[in-house]
Amino acid sequence: MGADLEKVLLTEAAIRERLEELGQQIWADYHDKEVLLVGVLKGAVVVMADLMRALPGSAEMDWMAVSSYGSGTKSSGVVRILKDLDTDITDRHVLIVEDIIDSGLTLSWIRTNLLSRSPASVEICTLLRKPEAAKVEIDVRYVGFDIGNEFVVGYGLDLAERYRNLREVGILAPHMYS
Ligand code: IMP
Ligand code: MG
Repeated sequence: MGADLEKVLLTEAAIRERLEELGQQIWADYHDKEVLLVGVLKGAVVVMADLMRALPGSAEMDWMAVSSYGSGTKSSGVVRILKDLDTDITDRHVLIVEDIIDSGLTLSWIRTNLLSRSPASVEICTLLRKPEAAKVEIDVRYVGFDIGNEFVVGYGLDLAERYRNLREVGILAPHMYS
């Protein structure tokens, strides 16, 4: 499967090290706030599993599923809730955990939606951020890595549901797109 990659962008070790740092930083900010981690399915599954274990104390987790992409590599611009939270977030400190922010469309929509439920706060943590994200007005408190505009897979990120289980983040060889 690794052979389908043209290039490894982030190794397993580099990701682990960065998530450890973010875990410490997040805990410094949230240790007294009973943070609720909200993951966005399915891409954030792997980040969530590792990030939550990088927190030195207890945290709750919940999940949302939205659709913003088709099965290709282009954004459809459509956001729809496929699965909502189980948790009532009134007065809760919510930290959204995402795999990647590209246009930021998905995240700003989710954030607005969550803010309408009267939480104490809503912040965002993303493993990866693409340059496009800088163009939209979205405040991301925790960023793992800023990357280029290439389409990446692995560590939860997919191309048409494939490659989510790769341990590293990489760029697909061009022939894999066809
Ligand atoms: P946005 O709404 O453009 O920010 O899109 C965010 C979502 O698009 C992510 O949660 C991913 O599911 C998907 N996405 C964006 N860029 C990539 C990529 O390079 N690889 C895989 N999925 C991506
Ligand atoms: Mg996704």
